[in-house]
Amino acid sequence: MLGLIWSSKLETGIAEIDAQHRKLVDIGNRVIEAVQEKLGTLCVDEIVKELREYTVVHFQEEEARMESLHYPDCEAHHVEHERLKNQVKQWQREIYTKEMVDASEVLAFLRGWLIDHIMHSDMAFKAWLAGNATCTLKEGKTVTKCSRS
Ligand SMILES: [Fe+2]
Repeated sequence: MLGLIWSSKLETGIAEIDAQHRKLVDIGNRVIEAVQEKLGTLCVDEIVKELREYTVVHFQEEEARMESLHYPDCEAHHVEHERLKNQVKQWQREIYTKEMVDASEVLAFLRGWLIDHIMHSDMAFKAWLAGNATCTLKEGKTVTKCSRS
C-alpha cells in the first residue's frame, strides 16, 4: 500500500509540533487510502478539507511558537505556509474536477507538499532552536523580531 511514512528524520524534538505533524501525515494517508479504495470524490474531498483545516491550526501554532522565540526566519516561514495553504486549495480543486485520481499522484503531491516542508523549513527551525533557544532569552541580547503583526 502506498503511503506517507513517518520517520525519526521528521522529528523536530518539539512534542506538540511532532504530534501535529504526525496527525497531518495520518490525514494525508487517509486521503491516499480513500483514493486507493475508490471511495469517491465526495469522500476524498471531505478528507482533504480536514487536511486543510488542520493545516491552518497547525501553521498558526507553529508560527506563534516561532514568533514567541523571535525566530529570525519566521516571516519567511509564514510566507511559505501561506504558499502551502494556497497550493493545497488549488490541488483540491484539481482533484475534485478530475474523473480519475491516481493514488501515486496523491502520494507524490503530499510528499512534496508536507514532507519536504518538514524536512527543510521545519528542520531549519529545529537547528536554529538548538543553537539559539537559550541565548534568545538572555537579557540584553539583540534579536531580530518577526516583523509580522
Ligand atoms: Fe512549518
